[in-house]
Amino acid sequence: MRAVVLVGGFGTRLRPLTSSIPKPMLPVGHLPIIERLVMNLARGGVTEVTLALGFKPEPFIEAFPDGQCAGVTLRYAVEPEPLDTAGAIRFAADVAGIDDTFVVANGDVLTDLDVSALVQFHRDHDAEATIHLIGVPDPSAFGVVALDADGRVERFVEKPAPGTAPSNLINAGTYVLEPSVLDRIPLGQKVSIERATFPAVVADGRLFGVATDDYWLDTGRPELYLQANLDVVAGRRPHDHCDAVHADASVAADARLDTSVVGAGAQVGAGAVLERSVLLPGAVVAAGAVVADSVVMGRVGEGAELRNSVLGADGVVADGEHVHGERRPDPDAT
Ligand code: GTP
Repeated sequence: MRAVVLVGGFGTRLRPLTSSIPKPMLPVGHLPIIERLVMNLARGGVTEVTLALGFKPEPFIEAFPDGQCAGVTLRYAVEPEPLDTAGAIRFAADVAGIDDTFVVANGDVLTDLDVSALVQFHRDHDAEATIHLIGVPDPSAFGVVALDADGRVERFVEKPAPGTAPSNLINAGTYVLEPSVLDRIPLGQKVSIERATFPAVVADGRLFGVATDDYWLDTGRPELYLQANLDVVAGRRPHDHCDAVHADASVAADARLDTSVVGAGAQVGAGAVLERSVLLPGAVVAAGAVVADSVVMGRVGEGAELRNSVLGADGVVADGEHVHGERRPDPDAT
């Protein structure tokens, strides 16, 4: 089974982290998001993945120089300009020569979904497209579906106004598609699969959905990206687990770590405290500093405090400074 994984977005909501690293290349539990995602696709029978690239393609190509990721063969399709989700799928499928049933995944979603079961459901229902669904308390920020008793999608509404959603089942970002879906997408144009393609398949009665209660997390916002890391280190995912401290990190013997992840090459000084936080490769937390509920790529100075914040690669908290609820550098100032 072949798959297209969408990894060409700008990752605006994760800035300033994504100013230096594209979102799917950010680590979760010491492995890039894309690698954890491909691991799950491989468990579900996917043997070849085409990465639909656009914004910052180089880090992907450099990370997998032999064209292999989690035992899966990688291909790269670099769009000349952002084509939005459906346009990117069409472009990548053309590059890969896809002419049979295939899988599509959003490159920022982590899930334990059994992809082979989704494919089986798709075949059993003679669907043209089948989407993985997850139930959430507030579906208004997502694509929401209404299903009939057979699992056929009656309506697909992208980001409904609060209180108007037809159900609490949202598009969870993994699809099984027939190649005929590609014929619905004009070549070389910006087209959204959520706003244009899925509603057209619904009109023909051939969009289906499967709701599961698998682990599922969209890493697109800082608090969720942080959560994804904490879930892996706390052992909340059945297939994935990571050590709290990478073998190449340097952590002082009297530093205190509580449910946190310290990445390769990160440094934690004497007496520093980390709570529910992630230090990305190269981050520095100097002696006596306290970091809580934060993601750090940059430097937290001696005796400083950083809470509920995101520090990009160029972000600095001065010695003794207290920072709460900030993004540094401020992405809106650049
Ligand atoms: P935000 O800017 O924070 O909304 O993040 P994003 O750019 O990743 O957008 P979003 O989360 O809506 O995108 C869902 C998935 O589609 C992500 O995996 C993106 O990388 C991907 N994506 C979005 N737009 C494009 C595009 O134009 N081309 C390609 N190849 N992928 C895209």
